[in-house]
Amino acid sequence: MEEKVKKIQQEVDSFLVKSKDDLEAFRLKFISKKGQLMSLFDDLKLASVEEKKKLGKTLNDLKQLAENRFKSLQESIENTTSSDRETMDLSLPVIPNKTGNLHPLNLTRYRIIEIFERLGFNVSDGPEIEDDWHNFTALNFPENHPAREMQDTFFIEKNPDVLLRTHTSNVQVRLMKNQKPPIRSIMPGRVYRNEAISARAHCFFHQVEGLYIDKNVGFSDLKQTLYHFAKEMFGKDTKIRLRPSYFPFTEPSAEIDISCLICHGKGCNVCKYSGWVEIAGSGMVHPNVLRNGGIDPEEFTGFAFGMGIERITMLRYSINDLRLFSENDVRFLRQFKSVV
Ligand code: DAH
Repeated sequence: MEEKVKKIQQEVDSFLVKSKDDLEAFRLKFISKKGQLMSLFDDLKLASVEEKKKLGKTLNDLKQLAENRFKSLQESIENTTSSDRETMDLSLPVIPNKTGNLHPLNLTRYRIIEIFERLGFNVSDGPEIEDDWHNFTALNFPENHPAREMQDTFFIEKNPDVLLRTHTSNVQVRLMKNQKPPIRSIMPGRVYRNEAISARAHCFFHQVEGLYIDKNVGFSDLKQTLYHFAKEMFGKDTKIRLRPSYFPFTEPSAEIDISCLICHGKGCNVCKYSGWVEIAGSGMVHPNVLRNGGIDPEEFTGFAFGMGIERITMLRYSINDLRLFSENDVRFLRQFKSVV
């Protein structure tokens, strides 16, 4: 018993306390009712009267010693933590969290949506894995017609009816089937074409389709809508030009050009010295397409357009290589602050 007391006394003196956790360990070992020191008091009950007298005092002294040491250790631990707090400068600016930013293509997509939403267009979605009917036939591309070669398509070998959509126009007929006119919708999404990758082309890219069908929709509505869009997107001095073109699903069809943002029409290498840059294809929805969508072309007319999001983003931020969008190089991506 005496030996045990001596051992514990040494431990109380030499126990290292550097943190709150150490202090708690000290308390559990020497102060708490279930600790080592208190268990000696239990042993004392079994001792003879003589021993009780002698050891009782020793144990009480030891208990006192442990309690005193605990108090002083407690004070010193508390002092060090509060003095740490005093040396902390709360006025220092915080270290900013790296939150990332939106991809430039998304910035452009959101801006396009914002502009058309104000004109009453909603946003619709369609499948990227598509059947021949929605991507081609319903859009008035006759089977085996050379117009299908305007878009180099990825087909699934086992089932030529399944393909990766080549344009967002595939959503048009789905929309017509699902809702009655008036239809006023834009359809952003990814499209795929079997093209060699270069600074100007990629095997996948993004488009926004637009469709407006109602009674008495005319070509002037198409022109005014896209003129408004061009001014909102590229600045109020932007001009537009419509060039006659051909698409199977529109008649008449037109290519939409905007005045070159770089040289303002004087001619530079971006606009190939023409002063104009193409941004979209468009036209009045072909009566066959309306019929395929279950809409009577005698009662309703409409216009449609389709534009490339990459193209618009490149013009907007003066980017000269399409590959940058999918290379995942953060030095490029983090330059775009998330302001739509
Ligand atoms: N789908 C066409 C393309 O990818 C673009 C297009 C042209 C869409 C005219 C239209 C349109 O809705 O009316 O080349």
